[in-house]
Order: sequence, then structure tokens, then C-alpha cells
Amino acid sequence: MIEKQRINEAEKAVKVLQEEVYQHEWRLHYHVAPVANWMNDPNGFCYFKGEYHLFYQHHPFAPKWDSMYWGHVKSKDLVNWEHLPPALAPGEAYDKDGCFSGSAIEKDDKLYLMYTGNVWTGENYDEELKQVQALAVSEDGISFEKLSENPVITEAPKGDIHPFHFRDPKVWKHDNLYYVVLGSKTLQNTGQVLMYRSKDLIHWEFVNILAKGEGNFGYMWECPDLFTLNNKEVLVMSPQGVKPEGNLYHNLHQAGYVIGDVDYEKGILSHGDFQLLDYGFDYYAPQTMIDPEGRRIAIAWMDMWESEMPTQAHGYTGAMTLPRELELRGDKIYCHPVKEIEKLRQAEVIHEQITFSGETSLEGIAGDSIELDLSLRVHHSSACGIRLRVDEDAGEETVITYYGDKGILELDRNESGKGPGGVRKTHLQLQDHMLHLRIFIDKSSVEVFVNHGEQVLTARIYPGKKSTNIRLFSDEEIEIVQLKKWDLKRSI
Ligand code: FRU
Repeated sequence: MIEKQRINEAEKAVKVLQEEVYQHEWRLHYHVAPVANWMNDPNGFCYFKGEYHLFYQHHPFAPKWDSMYWGHVKSKDLVNWEHLPPALAPGEAYDKDGCFSGSAIEKDDKLYLMYTGNVWTGENYDEELKQVQALAVSEDGISFEKLSENPVITEAPKGDIHPFHFRDPKVWKHDNLYYVVLGSKTLQNTGQVLMYRSKDLIHWEFVNILAKGEGNFGYMWECPDLFTLNNKEVLVMSPQGVKPEGNLYHNLHQAGYVIGDVDYEKGILSHGDFQLLDYGFDYYAPQTMIDPEGRRIAIAWMDMWESEMPTQAHGYTGAMTLPRELELRGDKIYCHPVKEIEKLRQAEVIHEQITFSGETSLEGIAGDSIELDLSLRVHHSSACGIRLRVDEDAGEETVITYYGDKGILELDRNESGKGPGGVRKTHLQLQDHMLHLRIFIDKSSVEVFVNHGEQVLTARIYPGKKSTNIRLFSDEEIEIVQLKKWDLKRSI
């Protein structure tokens, strides 16, 4: 079957499910998700000819991971998204079992997608595979053609580099040369990142192992992304197999960054410690782009491998986080939802200067597709917080608690409804006793931006339709300095 036909069949396969999926109670209203069936990593996030394009790992024929296509959405404002036909379908000898993750770059007014061609060489998917790097090109950003020169990187370099786990090219331009970072591991299963360079995107020269894990840093690094933020180099990557340490690393896989300096000649990144980009449950494989305003924007898969995904039974699985603008302060990245999200706000409700203890609910503060902006003045000893998606009769709630005595913020989804439970915790130092939470609730997700982007906690949750109440609680008297709430319009 030719490429075009494969793409048409994929598009048809999701369209027939669209009506049913769009009406389902857990279907997200303002986060990118596939029309139907499966989504994982964001790919090819870019700005091309006046529009944002976002591609994603997509299996169009079932709500589970299988042979990978590239799904595609575009937007003028990062908020209102339009679905387009898949951009890539597997089928060539070098990508017949999947067009795996990759990125996009503009060259000579054309949009190039660079991706990993995956072929299984046996039944054991961990060991029996061949991965190569390939390109596809488009004039309009919608229909793509794979290059006749493919694959452009045919095998992993020799040395202490695993020959098969070799994927997820992220391409950028620096000083008139193109560079790519690739996810890799050593022969003894330590995660690392490889760097290549090219004059023309077609011929690639291996530069070096850019960075490698030491200690508890995982057996494979997926989806690397290298960029400059505030004059520092940042390497974002998704290490698999990092073991839990205290309150950290309780998800199956992690996503975070190191900050440092790159020697482009030698291909070496000297860097500081690994830090997470999100402290919740569901955040993986983030990819960034720089937009015409100079913003560095990250978007990630808002799910986790091997996590229970209750929407699978309803024909759709997988979503993206809100696009988040990254800001570097000192050696720490702050994450902010892009400002365009405010376009979705309607029906503002405001409460101010309310002192309470015990539990309270406030007039007009409820919902399942909303934004909350909450400023609390708390005490060092308070245990206080907010219960979201509450249904008292069903005993459902998703709880954010700040423990002043321990300096810990906790997100608890044990009673959230269907799906996986668990608690995630993060350390937090308050300034002037102020706790600020900006919370985005969408039908089956919650994203909590803490103290103006210092931390973010993201979770998929699967409550019943009636779980829309919201309650504040505190074991001693505290002040709600301000609580604002908006309903957010459906935008995809
Ligand atoms: C990350 C990942 C990538 C790979 C893709 C396959 O979630 O495992 O390394 O390219 O997903 O869908």
C-alpha cells in the first residue's frame, strides 16, 4: 500500500469514532488528544509559516501502543487546535514497524521531520530491533514525503554505545550547522545522549557522547532535547529506570533536565544535577520549541507508560499537557502555562479575604473544566489545602495538602475515582507564609502550578460525572487572600 493510502486509512479509522469519543465524560476539553485511539510522545513541535504544529506518536487503529504513526494538530495560538491527517505512516523497509519519536526543523522554506525508523527483528522488543534516523519533507506543513536518501543515519556509532536502542532525534541549528541529539544507552545499560552534526541535514557526522548518567540515573535516556535558556544550555531528557529516592522518582520513568555548558567542538556537556520538570504522576517525553516571541515552550505526554488508562475501554487514550513556558532562574527551571490559555476563560468568580478553619466551600467554586487561582496565607504549622473533583456521596476527591511543619506539598489521587491511585510529594519553602496554587482541571486531568511555576504536579484522574465540588480545608485558622475561578471553554 502506498503512503498516501496508509494515511487515509489511519484518518478514517479515528474519524468513525470521533462522535462517540468527543461525548465521553473523560474526554479532555482543552488539552490536545487524538481524535480517537492511541497517543504518546509529542513530536515535531514547531512554528511554521505562521502556525504552531504539533505531531505525536499515534496508533490510529486501537487505543493501545502498536505500530507508530505521527498524528498531527496545528494551532494559531497554542490553545485552539485543529486536527490534520497523520503526517507519517510506517511502511518503508527502514520504518516498517513504526515511525518513532523525532522533531522538526525549517530549511529553505520547507518543513523537515526527523524521526526514528523502527524495525523489529524478533519477538523480544527490548533486544531484537533495528533503529535508524530518517527524514520527511513538506512544503505546506501538512503532506510529507519521505526522503529518497533515507535512512540518513543508518546505525549507532561504535564504542560503548548500544547498537539498537538509538532513537528520538531532536534537531536544531547552531552557527550554520545542524545538530542532533539522540537517546541512547551504553553496552552496560547506562543512559546517555549522542550528538551529531551536519551541513545539510542529509549527511551526519557523529561528534560525541554529549552526556552520560552516573549513579542512579537510569538504563536508557529517551527523548533528549538540548537548547539555550537565559544563556545556559539545558538538556532535557526522559531517563528510564531511575529508582525512587525519598519523595522523588516514584513514577515508572522520569522527565527532567540538567543545566550546564556545551563545548560544540568536542560535543561535551558539563552540567549540574538532574532535576524534575514535574512532580506529579503523569509527565513524560517533553519536547520544546522556540516561538517567534522567543519563548521556550515545552509540551509533554500527560500519561505514564504501563499506567492503568481507563479511557482505553472507550476508544481513546493519551493526551498532552498544557503548553508550558520555561523560565530559568538561577539553576532552576520555572514552568508557566502559556498566557494564551487565558483566552479560554469565562464566567469569572472571585472571593477575597476570607478567614476560616475546618472546611469550607465557596459560592460558585465548582466544576470539571476550570481554572482556579488561589492565594492562601498559612502558618508554619498548618495542614491545609483544597479538595478537587469532590462527590461526597461517592466518596470521591483529589486532594492537594500543604504540610507546614514538614514543608511538603502533596497530591493525593487515592480517592479520585477509577484508574491508578497514589500520592506524590514535593518540598516547598514558602515566602511570607504565602501559598499560591494555579490549578487547571480538565475532565480527566489536573495540573497544579505551585508558587508561580516553582513546581508543577500533573495527574490523570478518572472521577464520576458528579464529582465537581471543591472544598478548602485547614486544621487552624488561615486566610484565603484571593480565590478566582473561571470556566474554560472547549478548544479541541
Ligand atoms: C518514549 C518512547 C520513545 C520512542 C517512542 C515510541 O515514550 O519510548 O523513545 O521513540 O516512545 O512510541
